[in-house]
Amino acid sequence: MNDVIKSIQTLKTTRSSNFSEERISTDDFDMIIESCIKAPNASNRQSYSIIVLDDNEKKQLGLKGDKVLLFIVDFHRHECLKEYLGKNISFNHFQPFLTGVIDVSLAVQNAVIAANSLGIGYLTTNDTYTRDLDKIFDLLKLPRKGCFPLLYLCLGYPMNKIVNQKSRINIKHIVHYGEYNDYNQDKILSIINEYDNADLELFTNWKEKGYETYLDWFYDKWLPSLEKQEKSLKLIEVLKRIGFID
Ligand SMILES: Cc1cc2nc3c(=O)[nH]c(=O)nc-3n(C[C@H](O)[C@H](O)[C@H](O)COP(=O)(O)O)c2cc1C
Repeated sequence: MNDVIKSIQTLKTTRSSNFSEERISTDDFDMIIESCIKAPNASNRQSYSIIVLDDNEKKQLGLKGDKVLLFIVDFHRHECLKEYLGKNISFNHFQPFLTGVIDVSLAVQNAVIAANSLGIGYLTTNDTYTRDLDKIFDLLKLPRKGCFPLLYLCLGYPMNKIVNQKSRINIKHIVHYGEYNDYNQDKILSIINEYDNADLELFTNWKEKGYETYLDWFYDKWLPSLEKQEKSLKLIEVLKRIGFID
């Protein structure tokens, strides 16, 4: 196994409560950002911007880590360029937005891999659009059109060594060769059993909380607390206001 693969296979999220006060050196931080923007990006457009938050902004947004980066799907920059050049193209529709989401995700993951290789911890979170989007727009003076704050990346040294590594369900349930192999009852049961295996180190005390299986807890308790239809409807309104959907 080469060093890059080793590093990728040891990726571990640092939880918010586990960031220490230790500072990231400017050299390391610059290297992370440089690596981040080398990610693939559609049409060489780099349809994103990154805001490095200051301490006051981190505090107001309830974020931890020495450095917090906000990744924004950003078509405002291209709006400015095209207007200056008198071009007639529009970015006010859904496809650019979707492409921007992909550009951001890849850039974030490049930053994650770079940080991990330097022994720096990271937390990717979508506490952007799942929380108070208006607050982000106001505090950071984001343009009202063409910009959508998608992900935060919190970077810092972990206080305590991360002992648990969240595992993944078996690769055979995820990778399909040649065609989609639908989930029959045997496979479904096998996946449910895997989720119940404490070695996977997902949430482990569902039994104490009164749930029979991990997935009972996950579908009945966890997801409904995160993903509500009203929240999606609100997001659609925001995307309309920003201009990405009609
Ligand atoms: C879009 C997205 C949002 C996430 N939000 C949070 C979050 O709010 N809080 C948190 O502790 N981890 C968050 N995570 C990290 C996941 O919980 C973590 O990747 C997962 O548990 C697997 O753990 P690992 O990264 O250590 O392998 C998020 C990850 C992604 C990709």
